Amino acid sequence: MKGNPKKKFIGTFPQKELLKLYMKHVNGPKVRFFKSLGLGVIPGEREGVKMRTLEGSKPGEPPLEFLNCRTSGGVYNLGHQNPIIFQIFKDALEEGLDIGDHILLSEQRALLGKKLADLLPGDISKTTFGVGGGESIDCAIKFSRAYTKRKGCVSAIGGYHGHTGFALAAGDPGFRDKFLWELPGFKQVPFDDIDAMRRAVTNDIACVILETIPATAGILIASEGYFAEVREICDDTGTMMIIDEVQTGLGRTGHLWAIYGGIYPNEKVVPDFMVLGKGMTAGIYPLSTCSYKPFIEKAVYKDDPFIHISTTGGSDIGCAITLEMLKIQSDQKFLNHVKEMGRLFQNGLEGIKNEFSDLIKDVRGRGLMLGVEFYNETDSQLAMLSIIKEGVLLDYCNNKKDTLKILPPLIVQKHELDEILDRINRGISKLKKLRI
Ligand SMILES: Cc1ncc(COP(=O)(O)O)c(C=O)c1O
Repeated sequence: MKGNPKKKFIGTFPQKELLKLYMKHVNGPKVRFFKSLGLGVIPGEREGVKMRTLEGSKPGEPPLEFLNCRTSGGVYNLGHQNPIIFQIFKDALEEGLDIGDHILLSEQRALLGKKLADLLPGDISKTTFGVGGGESIDCAIKFSRAYTKRKGCVSAIGGYHGHTGFALAAGDPGFRDKFLWELPGFKQVPFDDIDAMRRAVTNDIACVILETIPATAGILIASEGYFAEVREICDDTGTMMIIDEVQTGLGRTGHLWAIYGGIYPNEKVVPDFMVLGKGMTAGIYPLSTCSYKPFIEKAVYKDDPFIHISTTGGSDIGCAITLEMLKIQSDQKFLNHVKEMGRLFQNGLEGIKNEFSDLIKDVRGRGLMLGVEFYNETDSQLAMLSIIKEGVLLDYCNNKKDTLKILPPLIVQKHELDEILDRINRGISKLKKLRI
């Protein structure tokens, strides 16, 4: 193998050789899948809304350049290599921060815990830290079980909460059934069906867990009043309400939180738990949080403050970055920008829907979390490929494959949005020509 000695990290080896290594040592079927789509490419340089590949899809071809509307499901809210976050990371390292020691106490965890308490809905004021979203969802389900001394959990059909134990159990059979056969007390109901929810929440249920806008299920928007009624059902039955804002939180919808007066301005619903992840550290260092109301703490930690621990969860360095990210993303001017870009993007997509009304059934979403539903899965997947070939990176909702998921960085500017819409339009026009 011949490497490139000038570079330390990006483009150090030819893409072809790296694909072989990935195939042999990481995940062969994944490489074959991307190659079969003509997308056997590896991400290289990235900046702002742009991402380049190491090379083109054929050896010797120049790199492809994408406007990133995938953002790893809302990780790159501030774009790739945001200079402010980049500087904080460097400063924190230079000042001597590292991941810290999870058994000891931590200045950064204390400061971030306080900041989250100031910003989160109602009296949610305690935080247990993790590394990934799934870990913090597990934490919320564990703590619900400890508090209620019940084991059941009700989630939404098609929802996704992570690949770890309880999170997996609360998710879709497609991700779950190969690994988990017995799920005592775990039930799923259709999203936005309050009668089904009422029937499912019996007195052995520890928690209800819902995404505010289920992303993997197809960017679904609940009717007004749904979350308030779920809150009432939980109150009436002593069940914990967990809201998963791993994708919808931190400004994605044009509101800091989608729940609590965000996308439903008249409903100040306060869940018992809020879980955050993905965009927490602007894609620089992994961190997730499970925040909850103070009455829950005693049931978990009183007898043993070390009963739930995570070596890399709540790293000092991750917390320092999140504190800076929160300053930017909780600013009303920033949130207004997301709202305005979301409005323009959704209008643009509505125009595309009208132009291709025989292919596209619906456009929906809030802020910069948007879904484009096709009449069938074949067209949505062909459209996705055709749009990717025009240079916009996006994908479909895994549990509703007829719907394309669009999550650009929240810092996207109008001229970039116009370019993205043009490219989406061109991609769908080309798909249409192929079908004729
Ligand atoms: C809504 C939601 N919750 C939880 C998770 C799990 O997060 P992670 O992959 O960081 O474990 C995801 C990941 O896609 C998600 O979209």
